[in-house]
Amino acid sequence: MTGVVPLCVMEEKRLETELADGLPVQVRPLGPDTRDGLAEGYRRLSPDSRYQRFWVRTGELIGERMLDRLLEVDPGDHAIWAVLDPARDFPGVGAASWWRSEKDPDEAEFSCTVLDEDQRRGVGSLLLAVCWLDAMSHGVRKFVGYTMPENVGAVRWMRDTGAEAEWDGYKVIFRWDLEDLDTIPPAGPGIALAERLAEFSGEML
Ligand SMILES: CC(C)(COP(=O)(O)OP(=O)(O)OC[C@H]1O[C@@H](n2cnc3c(N)ncnc32)[C@H](O)[C@@H]1OP(=O)(O)O)[C@@H](O)C(=O)NCCC(=O)NCCS
Repeated sequence: MTGVVPLCVMEEKRLETELADGLPVQVRPLGPDTRDGLAEGYRRLSPDSRYQRFWVRTGELIGERMLDRLLEVDPGDHAIWAVLDPARDFPGVGAASWWRSEKDPDEAEFSCTVLDEDQRRGVGSLLLAVCWLDAMSHGVRKFVGYTMPENVGAVRWMRDTGAEAEWDGYKVIFRWDLEDLDTIPPAGPGIALAERLAEFSGEML
């Protein structure tokens, strides 16, 4: 698929900001009408990034059931947000989602993927902050994220944004305490996260 792909039409929730290097970006929630855009973003990921996020080695096509699950509108229990660069033919830069746990309604699972060429520009921290505030506004108090131990970038990113790690013998389980901003390290992506939380805390809710 080439050309302009509409990634989101939910204009009312659009946030405008810049990355640290000055690139203007928008942050928007995704919905069923952004199916083609999300599938195209998946296609553009490297095989390693796809595997790190979805834990299976697939081709360039995302499964229809995964798209259904990601884009399901379930207010208060699930949301998916994207960072977009409107100046590009394909505007998708990264996306992140949260799902409330059925067992513990205080907790939600958080997942994030940034296109390979845009990693380490602060996009993951921006998406974490937006999901953090969005989930908190629905009563979520903890995020849990899972990563493979060999995914050094994600392990470091989760730790450096203040999540506590636990090893279950197979995967690394990270937990962020959304109510305690003192757990966010005052360095690297921790600073970026804290700045984004301050930037959007009045704007999101
Ligand atoms: C993990 C991920 C979401 C981070 O997003 P990002 O936009 O690159 O992260 P940020 O720019 O906000 O933060 C960058 C920081 O994260 C850590 N980091 C990210 N990628 C890293 C890498 N390849 N090696 C080492 N550290 C890395 C570092 O602390 C880095 O800070 P630095 O650049 O100052 O050293 C992104 O790398 C990604 O999409 N990976 C593939 C999918 C995945 O693994 N998802 C996580 C499981 S849900």
